[in-house]
Amino acid sequence: MSKKVVVLGSINVDTTYHVERFPQPGETISAKSKSSAPGGKGANQAVAAARSGAKTFFIGAVGSDSEGEYMLEALKDNGVDVHHITVDKYHGTGSAAVTLDAEGQNDIMIYGGANQAMTPDLVDDIGDVLDGADFLISQFETPQDVALAAFKKAKEHNVTTILNPAPAHDILPELLKYTDVIAPNESECALLTGIAITDEDSMLKSADYFRKQGVKHLLITLGSKGVFYSCPGDKYGLVPAFKVHAVDTTAAGDTFIGALSSQLEDDLSNVADALVYAQRASSLTVQGMGAMPSIPTADKVKAALAEK
Ligand code: ATP
Ligand code: RIB
Repeated sequence: MSKKVVVLGSINVDTTYHVERFPQPGETISAKSKSSAPGGKGANQAVAAARSGAKTFFIGAVGSDSEGEYMLEALKDNGVDVHHITVDKYHGTGSAAVTLDAEGQNDIMIYGGANQAMTPDLVDDIGDVLDGADFLISQFETPQDVALAAFKKAKEHNVTTILNPAPAHDILPELLKYTDVIAPNESECALLTGIAITDEDSMLKSADYFRKQGVKHLLITLGSKGVFYSCPGDKYGLVPAFKVHAVDTTAAGDTFIGALSSQLEDDLSNVADALVYAQRASSLTVQGMGAMPSIPTADKVKAALAEK
């Protein structure tokens, strides 16, 4: 049966500048080309879940502007339910300026707009979408007090909560008490725990740190190296990434989270298998340009899995 996934998060229009190399501070350089596409960590994660077959619901905000209409259409076209997206009259739709160099590395500057103006009362009436949901997912491009309010409600509805603490930011300590699964990358993990990720021991220590704060499961994404997981009962391991030629890693992490939620059992009993699927999905995303346009469908992921 398909999973029911609720994503609380950001919605951005991304503008990508394709450059040979990043500018130095104070330097002006010319971009080789420029492109625009739907993005935002929340929206990308929701689309990744929906394209992998999950019934997906979104909680977020856009401005009362053409970018907001464009993003609502992009989400609806992907089958994401948008009834809990607020149209904010006072703040513009979020946006991101992505600089992408010839090696496929990116720098991203975001304007939060309506995303950052969200307030906890916006989750007062989300009981309908939480009913029967498997997962509620959030990130750090919307205010943490909104995620906290939503995660508290999720626990009342027996929904497993997944926190992707990205982009790297200090955390409201109380949020961890309501988080079941935390999924940072290496640098986000180190910022939250104070433990540098150098080897397996450092990742196990990080898992202990989070478990003491109430988070049962840790998934650390390691870019082209793969994902480390640690679950209760001394269940841990490294699942390697697929070897591919990456041209643009924007939304690799988002594809991972969304695709994972479409396959994972809510008690994480099938975590190792679900991590293979999620990483195969991300390996396809990094081979395409742009955030949302490069997120694969279930058919493409399954075909790629059959190839290996
Ligand atoms: P981003 O911010 O670029 O979206 P992230 O830092 O949140 O990504 P990463 O750990 O870089 O997350 O990537 C998430 C997953 O995507 C990895 O665990 C891996 O499976 C896949 N991935 C990322 N980069 C590559 C790559 N170069 N080759 C193959 N797979 C990759
Ligand atoms: O994770 C990728 C996303 O981060 C981009 O789509 C951009 O909008 C930023 O939010």
